[in-house]
Amino acid sequence: MLSRTVLQRAVAAPARSIAAPQQSIRAASVWSQVPQGPPDAILGITEAFKKDSNSSKINLGVGAYRDDKGKPYVLPSVKQAEQKVMQQNLDKEYAGITGVPDFTKAAALLGYGANSAPLKEGRVVITQSISGTGALRIGGAFLQRFYPGAKAIYIPTPSWANHKAVFLDSGLEVKQYRYYNKQTIGLDFDGMVEDIKNMPKGSMILLHACAHNPTGVDPTETQWKAISDAVKEGGHYPFFDMAYQGFASGDTDKDAFALRYFVEQGHLPCLAQSFAKNMGLYGERVGAFSIVTASAEEKAKVDSQVKILVRPLYSNPPVHGARIASTILNDPALNKQWLGEVKDMAERIISMRALLKENLEKLGSKRPWGHITDQIGMFAYTGLTAEQMTQLAEEHSVYATKDGRISVAGITSANVGRLAEAIFKITG
Ligand SMILES: Cc1ncc(COP(=O)(O)O)c(C=O)c1O
Repeated sequence: MLSRTVLQRAVAAPARSIAAPQQSIRAASVWSQVPQGPPDAILGITEAFKKDSNSSKINLGVGAYRDDKGKPYVLPSVKQAEQKVMQQNLDKEYAGITGVPDFTKAAALLGYGANSAPLKEGRVVITQSISGTGALRIGGAFLQRFYPGAKAIYIPTPSWANHKAVFLDSGLEVKQYRYYNKQTIGLDFDGMVEDIKNMPKGSMILLHACAHNPTGVDPTETQWKAISDAVKEGGHYPFFDMAYQGFASGDTDKDAFALRYFVEQGHLPCLAQSFAKNMGLYGERVGAFSIVTASAEEKAKVDSQVKILVRPLYSNPPVHGARIASTILNDPALNKQWLGEVKDMAERIISMRALLKENLEKLGSKRPWGHITDQIGMFAYTGLTAEQMTQLAEEHSVYATKDGRISVAGITSANVGRLAEAIFKITG
């Protein structure tokens, strides 16, 4: 309640002049010192694409799956699961802080596998998250608050652009390790392992579980084993980002190899899962963040702190998308159907890679294009320079990021020929 003196002052204060000039109001704005930020790279591509009047323009910038007609795709299993959810006529009450329990349980099983010892022993903490980005953000905040070593996390060079921003905003220092070799357009395995070995003991390291974004370059299973050894030797802490489980190879178990191998080897990683790509639930924001702990007792303590951390961030997560994902994961028939649909999406992408390579070779390109089919997941790192990418856009109406990354999901049987011609004209 306002004190009497404050009230008197308020009443006695002269009314502000209605005729005050606009300019002086503007000069007084508290936001006048806010600098203009750079536009988002991907949104810039979409804008340039929209403005282009060429009817056969191609957008390979967006990181979302498209069907062979170039249209956004809602999975039939998602449509059916959504109908089932609607038929239940559920209320819209809040979920708990850690989300819809049937969903998180099933998400953990999908990630770690039914044979996972930590799951069987009840020592995995899991919370629903605002898709994969939210999972990374909770992880960043948890590590910042509780990780006992230096608050620095190493990410690959290059990495998904948002990793650096997410971890910096979480209060961590962000450092990098070698990952991609420009010369071979492949993995710089030796550089990566050397960098892991040279990190200060007990460093945090972010690993893309599969379908590395932006390069599409993944370690082989043998290489993952050596990476696990190097991480263990250094006493480092692995943080897996698994935004594409099933989307890389078409097989959710195969794509979880690295995570599960690390767990088998005794690592206690944390994990960010996204259901944006593998269920096409992009805008529903369905994800999960989990931490493998050493015991059920430790799990209880970590779980309590995850809740304390999430509560002031967003209180509790949205329920609709999680109910859809939960229905798909828990209903055996729908689950089987979904696994088939994930496989179909992955296979369409794999076949577009092969077609692009084949078309370039047919045109007589002298460059090797094996990396297009060796790489995996939604993106291909073409090896094209920033100048060549500008040429692609300006002369051929083909839009993608300047680092040479193309979203293979945007390639269709109808546009792959024209795309190959455009790349051929630029690269020879
Ligand atoms: C490597 C990686 N991690 C995480 C994400 C998170 O995406 P979302 O927040 O949409 O689940 C993405 C999406 O592009 C990604 O590529």
